[in-house]
Amino acid sequence: MRPVVIAANWKMHTTPADAGELAASIAAATRQPGVVRVICPPFLSLEAVRRAVAGEGVEVGAQNVHHEASGAYTGEIAAPMLAGLATWVILGHSERRRDAGETDAVVNRKLQRALASGLRPIVCVGEQLEDRDAGRAEAVVSAQVRGCLAGLDAESLLAGGLVIAYEPVWAIGTGRTASGADAAAMSAAIRAVLAEVGAGTLADAVPVLYGGSVTAANVGEFLVEPSIDGALVGGASLKPDEMAGIVARAAVTATARAVVEAASRPADGPA
Ligand code: PGA
Repeated sequence: MRPVVIAANWKMHTTPADAGELAASIAAATRQPGVVRVICPPFLSLEAVRRAVAGEGVEVGAQNVHHEASGAYTGEIAAPMLAGLATWVILGHSERRRDAGETDAVVNRKLQRALASGLRPIVCVGEQLEDRDAGRAEAVVSAQVRGCLAGLDAESLLAGGLVIAYEPVWAIGTGRTASGADAAAMSAAIRAVLAEVGAGTLADAVPVLYGGSVTAANVGEFLVEPSIDGALVGGASLKPDEMAGIVARAAVTATARAVVEAASRPADGPA
Protein backbone atom coordinates (compact mmCIF):
# COMPACT_ATOMS: atom_id res chain seq x y z
CA MET A 1 0.00 0.00 0.00
CA ARG A 2 1.48 3.36 -1.01
CA PRO A 3 1.49 6.10 1.62
CA VAL A 4 -0.49 9.30 1.16
CA VAL A 5 1.95 12.21 1.26
CA ILE A 6 1.22 15.91 1.64
CA ALA A 7 4.38 17.96 1.18
CA ALA A 8 4.49 21.71 1.80
CA ASN A 9 6.88 23.65 -0.43
CA TRP A 10 7.33 27.02 1.23
CA LYS A 11 9.62 28.23 -1.55
CA MET A 12 11.31 31.57 -0.66
CA HIS A 13 8.90 32.44 2.12
CA THR A 14 9.38 32.78 5.90
CA THR A 15 12.38 33.83 7.96
CA PRO A 16 13.96 31.84 10.80
CA ALA A 17 12.05 34.19 13.14
CA ASP A 18 8.56 33.34 11.88
CA ALA A 19 8.93 29.85 10.38
CA GLY A 20 8.67 27.99 13.67
CA GLU A 21 5.34 29.53 14.57
CA LEU A 22 3.88 28.77 11.14
CA ALA A 23 5.15 25.18 11.24
CA ALA A 24 3.70 24.66 14.72
CA SER A 25 0.32 26.01 13.57
CA ILE A 26 0.32 23.71 10.55
CA ALA A 27 1.35 20.70 12.65
CA ALA A 28 -1.46 21.37 15.14
CA ALA A 29 -4.02 21.89 12.36
CA THR A 30 -3.14 18.69 10.50
CA ARG A 31 -3.11 15.97 13.18
CA GLN A 32 -4.73 13.30 11.04
CA PRO A 33 -3.94 9.60 11.04
CA GLY A 34 -2.30 7.91 8.10
CA VAL A 35 -0.97 10.92 6.21
CA VAL A 36 2.75 11.55 5.76
CA ARG A 37 3.22 15.29 6.31
CA VAL A 38 6.37 17.03 5.15
CA ILE A 39 7.29 20.71 5.45
CA CYS A 40 10.04 22.05 3.17
CA PRO A 41 11.02 25.56 4.32
CA PRO A 42 13.96 27.63 3.06
CA PHE A 43 17.33 26.28 4.24
CA LEU A 44 17.74 28.96 6.90
CA SER A 45 14.39 28.05 8.46
CA LEU A 46 15.05 24.30 8.63
CA GLU A 47 16.27 24.41 12.22
CA ALA A 48 13.33 26.52 13.42
CA VAL A 49 10.86 24.19 11.70
CA ARG A 50 12.60 21.06 12.96
CA ARG A 51 12.32 22.33 16.53
CA ALA A 52 8.72 23.46 16.09
CA VAL A 53 7.46 20.12 14.79
CA ALA A 54 9.54 17.83 17.03
CA GLY A 55 7.26 15.14 18.42
CA GLU A 56 4.42 16.08 16.03
CA GLY A 57 5.12 13.40 13.44
CA VAL A 58 5.73 16.06 10.79
CA GLU A 59 8.83 15.48 8.68
CA VAL A 60 11.14 18.18 7.37
CA GLY A 61 12.60 18.57 3.91
CA ALA A 62 14.96 20.83 2.01
CA GLN A 63 14.01 22.39 -1.32
CA ASN A 64 17.28 21.52 -3.07
CA VAL A 65 20.70 19.99 -2.50
CA HIS A 66 23.99 20.10 -4.40
CA HIS A 67 25.15 16.99 -6.20
CA GLU A 68 28.61 17.08 -4.62
CA ALA A 69 29.19 16.38 -0.94
CA SER A 70 31.56 19.36 -0.59
CA GLY A 71 33.77 21.54 -2.74
CA ALA A 72 34.31 24.93 -4.34
CA TYR A 73 30.64 25.72 -5.01
CA THR A 74 29.99 29.20 -3.66
CA GLY A 75 26.55 29.64 -2.18
CA GLU A 76 25.54 26.01 -2.44
CA ILE A 77 24.26 23.60 0.23
CA ALA A 78 25.60 20.04 0.44
CA ALA A 79 23.82 16.98 1.76
CA PRO A 80 26.02 16.52 4.87
CA MET A 81 25.05 20.05 5.96
CA LEU A 82 21.43 18.92 6.13
CA ALA A 83 22.14 16.09 8.55
CA GLY A 84 19.89 16.43 11.58
CA LEU A 85 17.86 19.16 9.87
CA ALA A 86 16.05 17.48 6.99
CA THR A 87 15.16 13.94 5.99
CA TRP A 88 13.51 14.81 2.66
CA VAL A 89 14.59 16.88 -0.32
CA ILE A 90 12.73 18.35 -3.31
CA LEU A 91 14.72 17.89 -6.53
CA GLY A 92 14.29 19.44 -9.96
CA HIS A 93 11.44 21.79 -9.10
CA SER A 94 10.41 23.67 -12.25
CA GLU A 95 11.41 26.98 -10.67
CA ARG A 96 14.96 25.62 -10.31
CA ARG A 97 14.88 24.20 -13.82
CA ARG A 98 13.83 27.71 -14.98
CA ASP A 99 16.02 29.88 -12.73
CA ALA A 100 19.05 27.71 -12.02
CA GLY A 101 19.18 25.87 -15.33
CA GLU A 102 18.71 22.46 -13.75
CA THR A 103 18.43 19.77 -16.41
CA ASP A 104 17.37 16.16 -16.02
CA ALA A 105 21.08 15.27 -15.99
CA VAL A 106 21.68 17.63 -13.06
CA VAL A 107 18.62 16.28 -11.24
CA ASN A 108 19.96 12.77 -11.85
CA ARG A 109 23.22 13.65 -10.07
CA LYS A 110 21.35 15.30 -7.21
CA LEU A 111 19.14 12.23 -6.93
CA GLN A 112 22.20 10.02 -6.63
CA ARG A 113 23.51 12.29 -3.88
CA ALA A 114 20.19 12.28 -2.05
CA LEU A 115 19.99 8.48 -2.15
CA ALA A 116 23.57 8.16 -0.95
CA SER A 117 22.87 10.61 1.89
CA GLY A 118 19.62 9.18 3.19
CA LEU A 119 17.54 12.15 2.04
CA ARG A 120 14.16 10.98 0.74
CA PRO A 121 13.80 12.53 -2.72
CA ILE A 122 10.74 14.17 -4.27
CA VAL A 123 11.68 14.43 -7.94
CA CYS A 124 9.59 17.03 -9.78
CA VAL A 125 8.57 16.71 -13.40
CA GLY A 126 6.02 18.53 -15.53
CA GLU A 127 5.33 19.89 -18.97
CA GLN A 128 5.04 23.45 -20.26
CA LEU A 129 1.70 24.66 -21.59
CA GLU A 130 2.92 24.50 -25.20
CA ASP A 131 3.80 20.82 -24.68
CA ARG A 132 0.28 20.09 -23.49
CA ASP A 133 -1.31 22.11 -26.29
CA ALA A 134 0.82 20.23 -28.81
CA GLY A 135 -0.28 16.89 -27.38
CA ARG A 136 3.20 15.90 -26.21
CA ALA A 137 2.81 16.32 -22.44
CA GLU A 138 3.16 12.60 -21.69
CA ALA A 139 6.19 12.25 -23.97
CA VAL A 140 7.90 15.23 -22.31
CA VAL A 141 7.21 14.05 -18.77
CA SER A 142 8.18 10.46 -19.54
CA ALA A 143 11.49 11.71 -20.96
CA GLN A 144 12.06 13.77 -17.81
CA VAL A 145 11.48 10.77 -15.57
CA ARG A 146 13.80 8.63 -17.71
CA GLY A 147 16.48 11.31 -17.61
CA CYS A 148 16.20 11.90 -13.87
CA LEU A 149 16.42 8.17 -13.08
CA ALA A 150 19.03 7.27 -15.70
CA GLY A 151 21.51 4.66 -14.54
CA LEU A 152 19.84 4.18 -11.15
CA ASP A 153 18.70 0.74 -10.13
CA ALA A 154 15.28 -0.10 -8.78
CA GLU A 155 16.71 -1.42 -5.50
CA SER A 156 18.32 1.87 -4.48
CA LEU A 157 15.32 3.90 -5.63
CA LEU A 158 13.04 1.69 -3.54
CA ALA A 159 15.37 1.75 -0.54
CA GLY A 160 15.65 5.53 -0.81
CA GLY A 161 11.87 5.97 -0.87
CA LEU A 162 11.66 7.77 -4.20
CA VAL A 163 8.62 10.02 -4.64
CA ILE A 164 7.72 11.69 -7.93
CA ALA A 165 5.73 14.93 -8.09
CA TYR A 166 3.91 15.68 -11.33
CA GLU A 167 3.63 19.44 -11.53
CA PRO A 168 2.46 20.86 -14.86
CA VAL A 169 4.45 24.09 -15.11
CA TRP A 170 1.43 26.07 -16.31
CA ALA A 171 -0.46 25.11 -13.13
CA ILE A 172 2.16 26.28 -10.62
CA GLY A 173 1.13 29.42 -8.80
CA THR A 174 -1.42 30.28 -11.48
CA GLY A 175 -4.65 29.12 -9.91
CA ARG A 176 -5.12 26.76 -12.86
CA THR A 177 -4.93 23.02 -12.25
CA ALA A 178 -4.81 19.94 -14.40
CA SER A 179 -7.96 17.86 -14.19
CA GLY A 180 -7.88 14.86 -11.88
CA ALA A 181 -8.23 12.65 -14.95
CA ASP A 182 -5.27 14.31 -16.72
CA ALA A 183 -3.14 13.97 -13.59
CA ALA A 184 -4.11 10.30 -13.31
CA ALA A 185 -3.23 9.71 -16.96
CA MET A 186 0.14 11.32 -16.37
CA SER A 187 0.65 9.22 -13.27
CA ALA A 188 0.04 6.12 -15.42
CA ALA A 189 2.64 7.36 -17.93
CA ILE A 190 5.12 7.93 -15.10
CA ARG A 191 4.47 4.44 -13.72
CA ALA A 192 5.08 2.99 -17.19
CA VAL A 193 8.57 4.53 -17.12
CA LEU A 194 9.10 3.24 -13.57
CA ALA A 195 8.16 -0.22 -14.85
CA GLU A 196 10.94 0.05 -17.45
CA VAL A 197 13.44 0.76 -14.67
CA GLY A 198 12.28 -1.78 -12.15
CA ALA A 199 9.44 -3.96 -13.37
CA GLY A 200 6.25 -3.98 -11.32
CA THR A 201 7.76 -3.36 -7.92
CA LEU A 202 8.95 0.16 -8.53
CA ALA A 203 5.88 1.17 -10.52
CA ASP A 204 3.61 0.00 -7.72
CA ALA A 205 5.67 1.29 -4.82
CA VAL A 206 6.61 4.85 -5.79
CA PRO A 207 4.15 7.50 -4.61
CA VAL A 208 3.20 9.95 -7.37
CA LEU A 209 2.00 13.33 -6.12
CA TYR A 210 0.18 16.08 -7.99
CA GLY A 211 1.32 19.68 -7.63
CA GLY A 212 0.14 22.97 -9.10
CA SER A 213 -2.32 25.34 -7.39
CA VAL A 214 -3.54 22.66 -4.98
CA THR A 215 -5.96 23.96 -2.35
CA ALA A 216 -8.28 22.45 0.23
CA ALA A 217 -11.12 23.03 -2.25
CA ASN A 218 -9.58 21.13 -5.17
CA VAL A 219 -7.31 18.48 -3.62
CA GLY A 220 -10.14 15.93 -3.58
CA GLU A 221 -10.23 15.89 -7.37
CA PHE A 222 -6.70 14.46 -7.32
CA LEU A 223 -6.89 12.26 -4.24
CA VAL A 224 -9.93 10.48 -5.60
CA GLU A 225 -7.66 9.04 -8.30
CA PRO A 226 -6.14 5.73 -7.13
CA SER A 227 -2.87 6.47 -8.92
CA ILE A 228 -2.35 9.85 -7.21
CA ASP A 229 -0.82 9.50 -3.77
CA GLY A 230 -0.86 13.02 -2.43
CA ALA A 231 0.13 16.57 -3.25
CA LEU A 232 3.06 18.95 -3.35
CA VAL A 233 1.55 22.21 -2.18
CA GLY A 234 3.04 25.67 -2.71
CA GLY A 235 1.01 28.79 -2.01
CA ALA A 236 -1.66 27.08 0.08
CA SER A 237 0.98 25.44 2.27
CA LEU A 238 1.67 28.80 3.94
CA LYS A 239 -1.90 28.86 5.31
CA PRO A 240 -2.68 26.57 8.26
CA ASP A 241 -6.40 26.52 7.42
CA GLU A 242 -5.71 25.40 3.87
CA MET A 243 -3.29 22.74 5.10
CA ALA A 244 -5.89 21.55 7.61
CA GLY A 245 -8.39 21.01 4.78
CA ILE A 246 -5.85 19.39 2.48
CA VAL A 247 -4.57 16.94 5.09
CA ALA A 248 -8.09 16.15 6.31
CA ARG A 249 -9.04 15.18 2.75
CA ALA A 250 -5.81 13.17 2.42
CA ALA A 251 -6.70 11.29 5.62
CA VAL A 252 -9.97 10.17 4.00
CA THR A 253 -7.99 8.63 1.15
CA ALA A 254 -5.46 7.08 3.53
CA THR A 255 -8.24 5.50 5.61
CA ALA A 256 -10.03 4.19 2.52
CA ARG A 257 -6.80 2.64 1.25
CA ALA A 258 -6.16 0.98 4.61
CA VAL A 259 -9.66 -0.52 4.58
CA VAL A 260 -9.20 -1.89 1.05
CA GLU A 261 -5.79 -3.26 1.99
CA ALA A 262 -7.15 -4.97 5.11
CA ALA A 263 -10.08 -6.46 3.16
CA SER A 264 -7.73 -7.89 0.53
CA ARG A 265 -5.65 -9.75 3.12
CA PRO A 266 -6.45 -13.45 3.58
CA ALA A 267 -8.51 -13.88 6.77
CA ASP A 268 -6.12 -16.36 8.42
CA GLY A 269 -2.98 -15.14 6.80
CA PRO A 270 -0.28 -13.04 8.36
CA ALA A 271 -1.17 -9.37 8.87
P1 PGA B 1 1.59 26.13 -6.01
O1 PGA B 1 3.07 25.54 -6.07
O2 PGA B 1 0.79 25.21 -5.15
O3 PGA B 1 1.74 27.50 -5.43
O4 PGA B 1 1.07 26.16 -7.41
C1 PGA B 1 3.29 24.17 -6.15
C2 PGA B 1 4.76 23.91 -6.29
O5 PGA B 1 5.44 24.67 -6.98
O6 PGA B 1 5.29 22.94 -5.70
